[in-house]
Amino acid sequence: MDASDIHILPMQPHHLEALQQDFEKNFPNIWTYAIWEEELGNTNSSYYILFYQDEPISLGGIKIILDEVDLMNIVTRADYQKKGFAKLLLTYLISKAKEKKCKHITLEVASTNTIAIHLYEKMGFQKISIRKNYYRNGDDAIIMALSLS
Ligand SMILES: CC(C)(COP(=O)(O)OP(=O)(O)OC[C@H]1O[C@@H](n2cnc3c(N)ncnc32)[C@H](O)[C@@H]1OP(=O)(O)O)[C@@H](O)C(=O)NCCC(=O)NCCS
Repeated sequence: MDASDIHILPMQPHHLEALQQDFEKNFPNIWTYAIWEEELGNTNSSYYILFYQDEPISLGGIKIILDEVDLMNIVTRADYQKKGFAKLLLTYLISKAKEKKCKHITLEVASTNTIAIHLYEKMGFQKISIRKNYYRNGDDAIIMALSLS
């Protein structure tokens, strides 16, 4: 993959429109359009989109309140998965959190989402706690954290 083919930009509503059909078809548990849209309007949140050869591929964002940063979501469209795009976007999000002098970044992920857990572990996140029956379907949430210092 040539680095000059990768661009990461702040996410706009029309980027979401371009990916929403793929997301709804392939990821039934992902945020609805309305939630993404609401999050885009949240002044504490920053969402970004990764393009490969000008194609929109992955979306993700962080929410920063004082020096606390949460990874809010990260998604790669189904036909471009397992090519390293989520790792690239997550690396970028982590660099944004570091720029703001945040000390650590936390996230929550369903205990059944083994792919995402692999991704986060690859990026150095560690499991720090569990919230039993956190999700509507009864799945537990795993809380993970990465130290930025
Ligand atoms: C999780 C997700 C974002 C990963 O996106 P991706 O672009 O395919 O990820 P990458 O190619 O950067 O892979 C990163 C790591 O994730 C893990 N991974 C990715 N796909 C995997 C798979 N099918 N099986 C197991 N691990 C996998 C691997 O550890 C991989 O690192 P490696 O290739 O060095 O082993 C993607 O699967 C997705 O969009 N899932 C649906 C949305 C979601 O659940 N998001 C997380 C919300 S908490």
